Amino acid sequence: MKPKVSVIGAGQVGATTAQRIVEKGLADVVLADIVEGMPQGKSLDLMEAAPLEKHDAKVIGTNDYSEIVGSEIVVVTAGVSRKPGMSRMDLLKTNAQIVKGVAEKVLQYASQSILIMVTNPLDVMTSLVHQITRFPKQRVMGMAGVLDSARFRYFIAEKLKVSVKDVNAMVLGGHGDDMVPLPNYTTVNSTPISKLLSQDELDALITRTRNGGAEIVSLLKQGSAYYAPASSVTQMVKSILLDEREILPCCTLLEGEYGLKGVFCGVPCRLGRKGVLEVVELKLTDEEKKALSKSAESVRQGVQELSSLLSS
Ligand code: NAD
Ligand code: LAC
Repeated sequence: MKPKVSVIGAGQVGATTAQRIVEKGLADVVLADIVEGMPQGKSLDLMEAAPLEKHDAKVIGTNDYSEIVGSEIVVVTAGVSRKPGMSRMDLLKTNAQIVKGVAEKVLQYASQSILIMVTNPLDVMTSLVHQITRFPKQRVMGMAGVLDSARFRYFIAEKLKVSVKDVNAMVLGGHGDDMVPLPNYTTVNSTPISKLLSQDELDALITRTRNGGAEIVSLLKQGSAYYAPASSVTQMVKSILLDEREILPCCTLLEGEYGLKGVFCGVPCRLGRKGVLEVVELKLTDEEKKALSKSAESVRQGVQELSSLLSS
């Protein structure tokens, strides 16, 4: 019997995440959306690929939240995505209302699940679902750092013409313009990146990583990235379901780690069957510590903006 993962929001990220999860045989998936018939159609289409993709996982589409009962993990992608020129924070008002409703349904039907937030503005939405569900912090996390780190790794591999498999990198902080790539923890086949790229070359790749989301939004014109985001969510789901205890950059509630308290922000997390097993504290330079604090401050401001929105 496969574990059950529910994906709320059967749009670009949600449906692709469902596809990645079932095609890796990780879990059965319930794909939920408010659009009548759409999750059902996408799920049937995905199942018709099963004989070719050679998996026996099941994905069912639904407009009925009660079908998420018994989910080990609930991935939340419900919400609108940005248009060219918009920041992730511009989505706050619309997505806060959507996510609030979704969080209440998760609390009602899947109160023992692990929540992985995707909807933007990511860090603020992760804080919001924690506030509403009151789930223990181990069971509430956001996906962003895995995506931002993957982008950084890809840009480095492309620049150096090496295999993406040989590039390791970590991007911390909020999922915004002040995210914090860590060059000291970035290596190619264990060689520090500082020995392979000049500072100017590295800075250019860091800037491209920060703008990674916006670059795709401007190319697509309609919608935002979804293939790499779906792969990023799936890596988190895999580490949790298989209890791999992988250390991945995830948005989680900090309670003193990295000198930060009471704020959701992207840091290295060990992910296992119970969710966030621990926050791993890397040794950061003073400059990196400052950058992480600045990024966390942006999240705090976003949370304050949200609370004034919700109270107005
Ligand atoms: P999309 O518009 O393709 O899909 C969103 C889906 O949510 C739609 O199908 C819509 O019908 C559904 N929805 C809306 N309200 C709902 C509700 N109350 N219950 C269930 N479903 C509901 O958008 P997308 O490209 O899949 O992106 C989804 C969100 O994820 C956006 O906010 C986007 O900014 C964000 N995102 C975050 C990251 C990240 O790194 N965290 C990466 C990519 C996208
Ligand atoms: C991105 C946005 C959608 O990083 O969060 O692609």
